[in-house]
Amino acid sequence: MNTKEQVLQMLEAQRGSYLSGEQIAQGLSVSRNAVWKAIRDLRAAGHRIEAATNRGYCIPVDADTLSLQGILPYLSPSLSPERIQVYRTLGSTNQTAKELALAGAPHGTAVIASAQTGGRGRYAREFVSPEGGLYLSVILHPDRLHFQHITAVTAFAANAVCEAIETVSGRSPQIKWVNDLFLDGRKICGILTEAVTDIESGSLSWIVLGIGINVNTRTSDFPPALRKTAGSLYPENQPERGNRCRLAAEILNRTAAQQTPPESEVMAAYRSRLMMLGQQITVHAQGSDYPATALDLDDAGHLIVRTADGSTQTLSSGEISIALP
Ligand code: BTN
Repeated sequence: MNTKEQVLQMLEAQRGSYLSGEQIAQGLSVSRNAVWKAIRDLRAAGHRIEAATNRGYCIPVDADTLSLQGILPYLSPSLSPERIQVYRTLGSTNQTAKELALAGAPHGTAVIASAQTGGRGRYAREFVSPEGGLYLSVILHPDRLHFQHITAVTAFAANAVCEAIETVSGRSPQIKWVNDLFLDGRKICGILTEAVTDIESGSLSWIVLGIGINVNTRTSDFPPALRKTAGSLYPENQPERGNRCRLAAEILNRTAAQQTPPESEVMAAYRSRLMMLGQQITVHAQGSDYPATALDLDDAGHLIVRTADGSTQTLSSGEISIALP
């Protein structure tokens, strides 16, 4: 770690409190001038660092620059910081994570960005990823996941993000089957799970879990077509702003851990957060739309619906999408 990163780590570890230049210099065994230069460079890189005479330097509680140093104070001691890469802007964190997975990166390796220029969603759609959001991909190795059904991975991820959001903000998103999180009727998060299968053995080689959350995103940063449906965890018309570093750490603590909860617990928690059970929905399937009632979720994560003629259907992810009326 260079001096700039060390200064940032000290300030992030005491977020909201002032540290004098003298304290920082002594703590790092560097000159006061080196601390001053580090602060100048950190500010130039976009970090909000306040300075007050006779008190020193402080990162305010609501500062919102993503960095590894900002994530560390909230990261579980069981996770290794060397496996976390943080970028200001990337094409797609899933793409970078897939390249790392192919190069042999271990379970729990994470790629995080403040913005993406080529974010991707399901069905190869664009995932608009302006600054203010949190874009995070985690590499999972299947031997660490004790799931019988691959669908449990998406459920596991959706639960983990819901719990992390609840911990950080006190707000409780709901899940729109399969993998969208909604708050106050608007989509605030999408999850894309990508996997590679070993052709010879037919087993999964690795999974990349991609999570995109609108955290402090301004409505004007969404394209006009999304402004009525996309929301933000901390909407701009409310004074509070979220700490993306803490949110990232809380998600990693739940997804990059060495063990996962039992599948039955994962599916039960996922089911309890579903927003549409008992409601009228519209099923979009291969070019035709039809109304149905969402009845239940089976153990494999398939949605059971009743159609207008009274028959039941079991829908698996990948072949349909659902719009609430
Ligand atoms: C969807 O809503 O269809 C899923 C969106 C998943 C977006 C995330 S953002 C982080 C990761 N990188 C990507 O390019 N996609 C995923």
